[in-house]
Amino acid sequence: MMRPNSPALAATANPFDLDNAAAYRAWREAKLAQFPASVDELVVEVGDPRSLTGAEHAAILRRCRVANMAIYAGTVRNADRNLPRLLGAQFGLRRLDANWLAEDDGVSRITVAAFGGRQAYIPYTNRPIKWHTDGYYNPPARRIWSMLLHCVRNAVSGGENALMDHEIAYLLMRDADPDLVRALMEADAMTIPAREDDEGVARPAATGPVFFVGETSGHLHMRYTARTRSIEWKQDAATLSAVAFLDHLLGADSPYIHRVMLEPGMGIVCNNVLHDRAAFDDNESQRRLLYRARYYDRIDAAVAVVPATA
Ligand SMILES: [Fe+2]
Repeated sequence: MMRPNSPALAATANPFDLDNAAAYRAWREAKLAQFPASVDELVVEVGDPRSLTGAEHAAILRRCRVANMAIYAGTVRNADRNLPRLLGAQFGLRRLDANWLAEDDGVSRITVAAFGGRQAYIPYTNRPIKWHTDGYYNPPARRIWSMLLHCVRNAVSGGENALMDHEIAYLLMRDADPDLVRALMEADAMTIPAREDDEGVARPAATGPVFFVGETSGHLHMRYTARTRSIEWKQDAATLSAVAFLDHLLGADSPYIHRVMLEPGMGIVCNNVLHDRAAFDDNESQRRLLYRARYYDRIDAAVAVVPATA
């Protein structure tokens, strides 16, 4: 039998284990020390995102390792719907989450839809989208671990995205009160009733945790939406306190919230961090168009979550 302090166990210590305060402290310290102080630190200038140079790739990966996200600013201006897929593949992202609105290849065109059934769903309007992670209504077998957004055309005005690393949300909540995190790790914390997802696809009710730790990877996943309709939170004091905490955290100005206005050729590569979208205005001659790809794979999945202490 392994002793609790054996190297083998230490190597697998998971900072997201609420019973392992030492692993959490070490991870927390490393996380905060490396956290990007401004959105500029997340931006990587690249040439063609479809074929990154070694240095460009390394720069994006480095940001994803410390902040679960990177913003690239590339020179490709033409609309190539293969771009997200080709970019994702360079980071090991292959298993796309496809739905009927994403057309054949699993890449969605996010643009204002005047017809075709999409106009009923917020992503396909010019309205603001509240804080969420992508695919919060998905069943566990279709957890979205990473997501890419690529801007082909920006709006005439508005459409800014706010971003917060979900690991930082976890950290701030655990610092405040580990019992809040514990409540959101419960399997019945959050239910999205049966209806349609944000893409208009009929789906069954989805009940699950907000914070989930991958069984084999040990990575942290977050399933969240700030919407107040069509959502059922577990009605106990700890869950409701945790929900109020998140609401406050994301509703206030915070050094941990980064805001970016994507320009044509720019995009976001992320491990499905928390994000929102501001309302925007566009018109027939300048229709905002983003490509979006969602994956069951995580960027940098092979990297252990335990920071090197040496
Ligand atoms: Fe989203």
